[in-house]
Parts: sequence; structure tokens; C-alpha cells
Amino acid sequence: MIGVILGTRPEIIKMSPVIRECERRGIDYFLLHTGQHYSYEMDRLFFEELELPDPDYSLDVGSGTHAGQTAKIMTGVEDVLVKESPDVVLVQGDTNTVMAAALAASKLHTRVGHIEAGLRSFNRWMPEEINRVLTDHISDYLFAPTESARDNLLHEGITERKICVTGNTVVDAVYQNLGIAEKKGNVLKEFDLEPREYFLVTAHRQENVDNRTRLKEILKGLEGVQREFSLPVVFPVHPRTEKRIKELGIGVDGLNLTKPFGFLEFLQLESQAKFVLTDSGGVQEEACVLGVPCATMRYDTERPETLDVGSNVLVGADSRKILEAVRSIETWKSGWKNPYGDGIAGKMIVMVCAAARPQ
Ligand code: UD1
Ligand code: UDP
Repeated sequence: MIGVILGTRPEIIKMSPVIRECERRGIDYFLLHTGQHYSYEMDRLFFEELELPDPDYSLDVGSGTHAGQTAKIMTGVEDVLVKESPDVVLVQGDTNTVMAAALAASKLHTRVGHIEAGLRSFNRWMPEEINRVLTDHISDYLFAPTESARDNLLHEGITERKICVTGNTVVDAVYQNLGIAEKKGNVLKEFDLEPREYFLVTAHRQENVDNRTRLKEILKGLEGVQREFSLPVVFPVHPRTEKRIKELGIGVDGLNLTKPFGFLEFLQLESQAKFVLTDSGGVQEEACVLGVPCATMRYDTERPETLDVGSNVLVGADSRKILEAVRSIETWKSGWKNPYGDGIAGKMIVMVCAAARPQ
């Protein structure tokens, strides 16, 4: 039996191809939702849109400090694993849910499969980097999306036979849902947007939005883009960012701030945008897969493949660099190669897990 564990928006999206494959193959599995994300538009909306089964277990841990949230997830996951005794537990990405679930499982000697293993920003100030490193080192199956992720793992002394390069399940999610998204409705029309005539923005990284100077600088850069190009800047605001903007009483001029979109709407917006500006991991990958230029408002990235193929540039939390990147758009060479695989990562991962011997 496979235990599929998730807790946040990107995990629901990137785990969806794995869940669909388990369903398709009639694999014995259960779904555990930690409840790290819980607002309708960060959680339930994706289950509805992607037609995913309801979780078998919901821990409802909610928000908290890193240690508080991690502890609650660990104790909740432990209870479920003791009851279910799965042969392998699957986690995806780099959130507190991932690290806490992997740690609880490994202490019970339950095998852990880490999807999106081997990503490194080499920046330990990011909570996600700590989560990634720890999870990789206690996992039994490391599903690396690319060769460079595999190299990172080998470099840290992880045994080669544990690693399987699968591509990223984000490609499966994009390929499986883009057509559905386009048929479902026209979000551009709804927002009065013309293809390639608007910018799409997301920002939620703790080190950006919890830092007043950085958040102000990012908003200044985006306002500058809107003024200079006189095109809409569509900015679905993550709840963390919404809270910070309110707390800091920062004014936002000229930007189209909206609630977070569902995946189907967001995919449409991403695929038709002139340019994407983000600090998200998944959005850097999706822009690359969809052939849309992207500027990442960070000083490092664990997605170096996007820089290598020329789909992405790092602009930091720096208003001048944000504006310069957008000004340079006409010089960008399009037609880069997608480095994240052919959209069969979910199938490969389930195949490996299904072949796992019972403990
Ligand atoms: C988390 C992950 C981050 C991931 C992101 C995806 C960690 C350490 N961080 O960051 O890696 O990129 O999810 O979006 O695991 N909130 C709500 N509703 C929700 C969820 C959060 O209002 O459904 C608000 C709460 O005020 C909460 C804050 O957002 O305190 C931050 O939530 P949290 O899950 O701690 O971190 P994220 O910033 O969402
Ligand atoms: N996303 C979405 N609606 C939005 C913004 C993002 O569905 O309004 C999706 C996006 O397509 C991507 C994922 O959310 O698949 C990225 O999640 P997030 O940026 O929260 O986390 P990260 O990838 O940085 O961990």
C-alpha cells in the first residue's frame, strides 16, 4: 500500500498526476492531507477542479510557527502510519508537511519516496532548503526531476541506486490540464485581458514578503512595470502576502490584485502572459514548460535548468532589475527546450512504488 501525503497548494497540484495514476492502476493507496493549507482557494478548490478524491485523513494542522506546525504534522502522520502500515510513503517538494511527514515515517521504518528530490538553492536561510536537504537524506526513493538534481544528491553522498530521474510531475500536471483549462472557460475575457498584453505576478516567499524592505521594493518594481508599459499587472495574492501587505499598511498602486486563482484559470493566464514575475518554485517551472519568459524575484534558485535554457532570469527583490528584465523582453530568444521531462513522471513514480517489496 502507498501512503500519499500532501498539505499545500503546490503539493496538491504536483501530486495530482501520481494520485490519478494510482486511481487508474487500481493501486491500494490512501491520501493524507495535513491541512497546512486550508483556505478554500489554497486547498479545496484544487480537489474540485482536478477532480481528486477526498483525503482519507485530514489532520487540520493549520498555520503556526515552523516548529509548532512541524510537530503537529509529525504526531498526526505517525498515528495514521501506525494504523495503516503502508509499504511506502510519498511526499512531494519542500514544505514543512514534506519534512515532517518524511521524518515521522522514517522513524517508523516506513520507506519514504521523495518526489522532486535533489533541488538545492544552497541558501540555508530558506526554510524550504532545510526541508529539502533533511527529506532527501532520510528518503529511500529519491525521484529527481533532472540530471542536475541527481548530481546534487550524489555530491552529498546519497547512494546512486536510491535515485531515479523521472522528470517533474509539474509537466504531467500542465499537459494533463492545459486542454481542460482552455475548454473550461476564458479567464482572459473575464478579466478583460488580451493574449501577451499583460504581466502575471506571484510572490509569497517568507524571505521576500516578511521583510518590509524587500516587499516594498518588489511592489515598487511592479508598479514601475505597470507605469512604463501601460499594461495590466495581474497579481493573485497568496494569503501570507495579503496578511503582510495589510499589516505593513503598504499602498499598492496600479496593480490588479486578486484572490488566488484555481489551477485551471492560472494555467490559462500563465500560458498567455507576456511575461511572468514570481518568487514561486512551481511558477518558474511552469513558465519554462509553457514557453513564457519569467523573471524570478530572488537572488538564487533551486531551478537552475530554467536559467540554463534561457527561460528565466534572477532579478532579486530589486525594483531596478525587475524593470530592466521586462525592458529586455524583445531580446529574449524563445523556443527553449523544456528540461523537466515528457510528462510521465507520475507514471514512473507509481511504477517504482508498486514494485516495492512489502516491508
Ligand atoms: C508554504 C511553504 C512554501 C510553499 C508555499 C506554497 C513551508 C515552510 N512553506 O508557505 O514552501 O512555497 O506553502 O504556497 O512549508 N495562510 C492562509 N490560508 C492558508 C494557508 C496559509 O491564510 O490556506 C496564511 C496564514 O496566515 C499563514 C501564512 O499564510 O500563517 C503562511 O502559511 P504557511 O503554510 O506557514 O506558509 P506559506 O507561506 O503558505
Ligand atoms: N497557482 C495557482 N493559482 C494562483 C497562483 C499559483 O493555481 O493564483 C499554482 C501554480 O500554477 C503552481 C503552484 O500554484 O502550480 C505554485 O504554488 P506556490 O507558488 O504557492 O508554491 P511553490 O511552487 O513556490 O512552492
